[in-house]
Amino acid sequence: MFIVFEGIDGTGKSTQVNLLADALRQQGREVVTSKEPTDGPHGTRLRQSADTGRLSPQEELDLFHLDRKEHIASLIKPSLERGAVVILDRYFFSTMAYQGVRGFDPLEIRRINEEFAPLPDHVFILELDLDTALDRIGVRDGEANQFEQRDSLQKCHEVFAALDDDFIHRVDAGQTPEKVHEGVLSHLS
Ligand code: TMP
Repeated sequence: MFIVFEGIDGTGKSTQVNLLADALRQQGREVVTSKEPTDGPHGTRLRQSADTGRLSPQEELDLFHLDRKEHIASLIKPSLERGAVVILDRYFFSTMAYQGVRGFDPLEIRRINEEFAPLPDHVFILELDLDTALDRIGVRDGEANQFEQRDSLQKCHEVFAALDDDFIHRVDAGQTPEKVHEGVLSHLS
């Protein structure tokens, strides 16, 4: 089973990844958790660029794709093949949203990714109003970085809101982490 958490910054994705991983491990399943961008060379370069100066839109898009290809080959595919549950904090829906903001067509980004990236069984979109998300980012980081500007997040939210597939589930991330987790479990059962 392949599960992905998506949503704008500040929605609590990493908390939900951990809560779900714990719950599934308690059921005796092997669970692998990971995130994108990864801690590999391409992901590290992308993270650094948020502070040291943003890359061109094309360079950034290429690096997210390279990072994902490595992630799939080194971790996602082997884990799924041996029967583990894989839970990710962000995947190509984030590329549709964030690089969509930088001028690329989100549907074209999706088409490119579907050529090499396995489709998840479940994608949870954590939904939160923008002001609460910005408050949470402020509390977390002290200062919002340049990926996290209000207009950009609003546009990202719109791309996530437009996703409409059987495997997409929307959860209200304004609730307590425990309530959000219950919502996630109810979709899985
Ligand atoms: P995070 O570790 O807080 O989730 O931050 C990663 C940032 O990278 C976040 O602002 C979203 C951005 N991002 C993209 O722009 N494109 C992508 O494909 C992914 C996975 C993340």
